[in-house]
Amino acid sequence: MGFTLDKVLPWGRSYEEYVNMFALTEADLGLRILGCGDGPTAFNSALTKQGGNVVSVDPVYVFDADQIRRRIEKIYETVMTQIRKNHNDYVWEIIPSVEHLGSIRMTAMETFLADFDAGKQAGRYLPGELPSLPFANGEFDIALSSHFLFLYSAHLSAEFQRGGNELLVIKPV
Ligand SMILES: C[S@@+](CC[C@H](N)C(=O)[O-])C[C@H]1O[C@@H](n2cnc3c(N)ncnc32)[C@H](O)[C@@H]1O
Repeated sequence: MGFTLDKVLPWGRSYEEYVNMFALTEADLGLRILGCGDGPTAFNSALTKQGGNVVSVDPVYVFDADQIRRRIEKIYETVMTQIRKNHNDYVWEIIPSVEHLGSIRMTAMETFLADFDAGKQAGRYLPGELPSLPFANGEFDIALSSHFLFLYSAHLSAEFQRGGNELLVIKPV
């Protein structure tokens, strides 16, 4: 897969952030959902506990929980320092402070890590990389992707970028 852990910034959002960010309705949450580039988000774990049907794909899932945890611990302060430095570029309405943001992210990533082994065994966390995904047409009703293209824009070709949109939500009409 040619993907090394030192190239990735595992940084995951909470279930509530996913629901708000993608404007997911109760009906949406009952559909078959594919999360592309989900990383260590708590979305899969929380939705599965509620009886939802979700599969997450990310190259980082090729590693085990301890390896991902160590990488999170290693990059956490670097990411937080960057956010503090660029504090004025963010809107601090829903999340009131950098410290609060850090706490939400760590809680979400802990939720993911606690669920990762079981979820991997159940086929809910699949190692894989866009643009080639191991699914047949029609296997999912909604595909979600957030904070992937922006973050990795330097590593992805213009051709790759043209194939997708950041904060992608494809809902049936
Ligand atoms: C900043 S994280 C965002 C995680 C999650 N979507 C969120 O919003 O909390 C970006 C994720 O994109 C993943 N990624 C990098 N290259 C990818 C690719 N080619 N296909 C799918 N995911 C990729 C990384 O492993 C990482 O977990």
